[in-house]
Amino acid sequence: GSSRRPAADKGLKDYYKDYFPVGVAVGPQSIKGPEAALIKAQFNSVTPENAMKMGPIHPEENRYFWTDADAIVDFAQANKLRVRGHTLCWHEQTPKWLFKDAQGKQVSKDVLLARLKSHIETVVKRYKGRIYAWDVVNEAIDDNPQAFLRNSEWYQICGEDFIVKAFEYAHAADPKAVLFYNDYNTERPEKRERVYRLLKKLKDAGVPVHGVGLQGHWSIFEPTEQELRTAIEQFASLGLQVQITELDVSVYPWEKERRARRPDESDAYTPELEQKQAAQYQMFFRVFRDYKKHLTGVTFWNVSDKYTWLDTYPVPGRKNYPLLFDQNLQPKKAYQAVVKF
Ligand code: G3I
Repeated sequence: GSSRRPAADKGLKDYYKDYFPVGVAVGPQSIKGPEAALIKAQFNSVTPENAMKMGPIHPEENRYFWTDADAIVDFAQANKLRVRGHTLCWHEQTPKWLFKDAQGKQVSKDVLLARLKSHIETVVKRYKGRIYAWDVVNEAIDDNPQAFLRNSEWYQICGEDFIVKAFEYAHAADPKAVLFYNDYNTERPEKRERVYRLLKKLKDAGVPVHGVGLQGHWSIFEPTEQELRTAIEQFASLGLQVQITELDVSVYPWEKERRARRPDESDAYTPELEQKQAAQYQMFFRVFRDYKKHLTGVTFWNVSDKYTWLDTYPVPGRKNYPLLFDQNLQPKKAYQAVVKF
């Protein structure tokens, strides 16, 4: 009802103005109409959810597709929102041509690094001065706790060097941009230790890395308060900024594998789930406020429960409700929990 509507002149960005910018992932669809109004009222930072990934933005070696990315940056500039760029080097959403030569053979390390350099230079320079931070390398640590780096095509062809080079190319293209390593499950001790090891190595080698993005794809069951605190403290001890870059709170336990939806499985958003989720969000933001010295941004991975990647992952077709606004763009209990302090 209307009593749950926040005062139109106060948004998340205002409640948190003495703490950190509050951002949101957007696509070309959400920067017009009622979602655009909500974004302007609530947030002061945006991240393109998909538009700047290498596949969408660089579909052929000699062709870039700028339309969606430009629209998002223009929208942000017109409304005084900061922009976090996402992402320059990732194993997913890569274009078909990237790892292959004209004969369809895997390219050499020299060729791949030259392509990475040209890509990073072109994209970062285009938005120089308009994108304040970049997720330079995304998700390079393996899911298997026994392994270190992910066995991606980047790694198979370049070894660890692609990580170092990506940061160097980005820094050369825009020396003022804040450069992030971004990953998920960074609060789970076995992953946290390996992300820490990578970042320590990069810092010790003088690589221009300035921040770590904890994606924050969490749930009403995890992480614990202590896990979250330990992660922020440990990464901050390296002299890095910390940001929560892709926050959402699933109402289901996280499952390791994708699976089909069971025929009898309920995906109703019960009052009990809504309450648990509000309590979880409240705890997270209490911790974030405690670390305002190290935390330079918190970004939600979408605007409202109307659209979230969690409707298709890990159980396609099971509705999820992970955000602060419901499917009608109205604030939920979790919103009140986040702004009451
Ligand atoms: O644009 C095409 C469309 O043309 C096509 O018809 C349709 C059919 O499948 O696919 C559309 O592309 C989809 C794209 O989202 C845009 O909607 C891709 O299939 C789909 O895989 C892609 O998913 C994105 C995913 O990254 C890619 O792995 C999600 O929207 C996006 O939220 C998600 O974001 C990632 C972060 O970048 C990194 N961290 C994890 C996070 C969640 O997976």
